Amino acid sequence: MTWQELENECITCRKCELCKTRTNTVFGAGNKNADLMFVGEAPGENEDLTGIPFVGRAGKLFDKYLEAVGIRRDSVYIANMLKCRPPKNRDPLPSEQDMCIEYLRNQVRLISPKLIVCLGRISAIRLIDPHFMITRQHGIWYKKGSFEMCAVYHPSLLLRDPRKKEDMLTDMKVVKAKLDALSVN
Ligand code: URA
Repeated sequence: MTWQELENECITCRKCELCKTRTNTVFGAGNKNADLMFVGEAPGENEDLTGIPFVGRAGKLFDKYLEAVGIRRDSVYIANMLKCRPPKNRDPLPSEQDMCIEYLRNQVRLISPKLIVCLGRISAIRLIDPHFMITRQHGIWYKKGSFEMCAVYHPSLLLRDPRKKEDMLTDMKVVKAKLDALSVN
């Protein structure tokens, strides 16, 4: 499947009820040859309105971390577990994740990143470990097939709990170090 075929299938998707309430499908954005991919949870209001991931308040905070550690947003790929906004930003249902995850799997296949960083517990539970505990396991790297994965705090959580911001900066610095190490090795 080509990138264009995948994107077309995704943006016209009607596999679950979320298609009835979405304004736009939020497929993903960034460098399709990226070594580093971030996977968030689901689009919020601003993402639904623009069709672009992480452009709202949480996204602006995330941009600050990217800038702080020296990662250009357009050098990485950013996607979500769900491509459509759940009403009132509720947590994605397992059934919605089941129906949507094939889009993400295909994105990963086509991009073939070396590093995948989950933004928050929802994607970590699904992609790293069903028992993932974000407060204990954030910043820990796991080897998964041809890539390495970790999870960091979701930027929305940092907006609610600023005490976690220091850990986020530490974790993001390691992400950048891992990225730099790829070009050395
Ligand atoms: N939160 C997410 O998980 N993803 C977005 O795209 C925006 C907010």
